[in-house]
Amino acid sequence: MGKETAERPGWWRGAVIYQIYVRSFADGDGNGVGDIAGIRSRLGYLRDLGVDAIWITPWYPSPMADGGYDVADYCDIAPEFGTLADAEALITEAHEHGLRVLIDLVPNHTSDRHRWFLEALDSPPGSPQRDRYIFRTGSGPGGHQPPNDWQSAFGGSAWTRIPGEDQWYLHLFAPEQPDLNWENRRVHEEFVDVLRFWLDRGVDGFRIDVANSLVKDQTFPDIGPDHPDVLEPTERVDHPHWDREGVHDIYREWRLISDGYPGERIFVAEAWVPTPYRLARYVRPDELHSAFNFDFLRCAWDAERLRKTINDNLDAMEQVGAPPTWVLSNHDVTRHLTRYGRSLTTGRGPRTEQLEPIDVELGLRRARAAALLMLALPGGAYVYQGEELGLWEVEDLPDEVLQDPTFHRSGGNVRGRDGCRVPLPWSGDAPPFGFGPDGSVPWLPQPPEWKALTAEALRGDTASILELYRSALRIRRELAGFGDGTLRWLDGPPGALLFERDPTLLCAVNLSAEPFRLPAHAEVMLASGPIAGDLLPRDTAAWLRRPTP
Ligand code: NOJ
Repeated sequence: MGKETAERPGWWRGAVIYQIYVRSFADGDGNGVGDIAGIRSRLGYLRDLGVDAIWITPWYPSPMADGGYDVADYCDIAPEFGTLADAEALITEAHEHGLRVLIDLVPNHTSDRHRWFLEALDSPPGSPQRDRYIFRTGSGPGGHQPPNDWQSAFGGSAWTRIPGEDQWYLHLFAPEQPDLNWENRRVHEEFVDVLRFWLDRGVDGFRIDVANSLVKDQTFPDIGPDHPDVLEPTERVDHPHWDREGVHDIYREWRLISDGYPGERIFVAEAWVPTPYRLARYVRPDELHSAFNFDFLRCAWDAERLRKTINDNLDAMEQVGAPPTWVLSNHDVTRHLTRYGRSLTTGRGPRTEQLEPIDVELGLRRARAAALLMLALPGGAYVYQGEELGLWEVEDLPDEVLQDPTFHRSGGNVRGRDGCRVPLPWSGDAPPFGFGPDGSVPWLPQPPEWKALTAEALRGDTASILELYRSALRIRRELAGFGDGTLRWLDGPPGALLFERDPTLLCAVNLSAEPFRLPAHAEVMLASGPIAGDLLPRDTAAWLRRPTP
């Protein structure tokens, strides 16, 4: 693979990267939880789908208080997922299938069961062990109140008190996820060791969890009434713990490490920041390589707003020479088929509750069109497992199966993110739909209707969304002018998105209520739905071959 990588310089600038949420992808041992054996058994599927790389969500030992984003050891594998040898075999086999491998690095916090935190608890205030984390004295008489008003992204105070002490520790997420102290040089050194550990094992890169939160204002001021949700970033400048200037020094340090390895190893930032221009700061030439563009995910199904979002992102990324990226769904937000399937055309924000039933047919039509739009845009794209099967958000999971800490910390007010994490349907007529061996029980129940959406059922059906993704990814690989590069907008009727890319592509998307006439073209290469003559129906996208002049 190292050789192949060298043959495709800048592979990541136009890569399509498939997100694997390990617990829900494929279960090799039948315990109901996805694992590395499951991923290995499906590498052929991913190769045939036509993606360039996979991003694997945290696979480390973890008490799973937050689906593995509470890491107890950065240099090992959770026993329920496999062994380090399994991980190494997966990396090798993925490379043999022509797939690069990104793993998830969680540097903002560890698990409260990590050795570092256990040592901190066993050591006195002011000790070097405590200094790995963020301990502060409580406020008020006896230190009975939290040090300040910071809130956890999952609800409640961001501070938890150590029993019998006036000391509290910070956790921007669950109490089981204490924040590391990035003012401490040892923390820097330990993470460099973690990077090297995995780079030495051949990973092609890292997705950086909450890349915008590592550095905190050391005066720890109150925030006041503006308590933004992590997924709904604030406009506030100089926020005490989001998007602070100091994070960029960390990424410059890391870039020197990855650049020292052969084969273009990369970093992808997860950073929920208010504007693409703030995002661009993470991908300046000496920092991270690319960053998820969540504006696209958050945007309404509306031509004008999408055009603006696309333009702003193209512009911001161009200013720093980084490729834009496009993402419609991930393991933290309502699946886009469901977002688009509401009668409202506004972008359904992440983690919002919406009891109005969805129109699955409408959602699917738009999801198909959105896929062609996304895959035609300049830069890279992310596919969240199951979007190629047309999966919807499972919004009726019974309370007792929900595992997301958001549900429990909000007293059940916010249902949380389990609905987009339901195990994938691979084959067969009934659960577990080939997710695990027959008779196994997936960790979240699958809707019986997913019988029609298994990979097996969709494969070979030219009208299926799976075949749409496969065709789009094949064309994207075969034809010049996809991925990295630029676009030119063309005029069109209201509600149309029309753009061309050299040398061949003309992409047309109809977001209006009426059909419109396609611009002059030599051939329809691919369409997200049936086209009547030259008319592009509503909620449909087409890839056209431009006429030869
Ligand atoms: C972002 C991850 O995507 C999410 O799943 C997790 O809960 C938080 N970061 C905290 O690690």
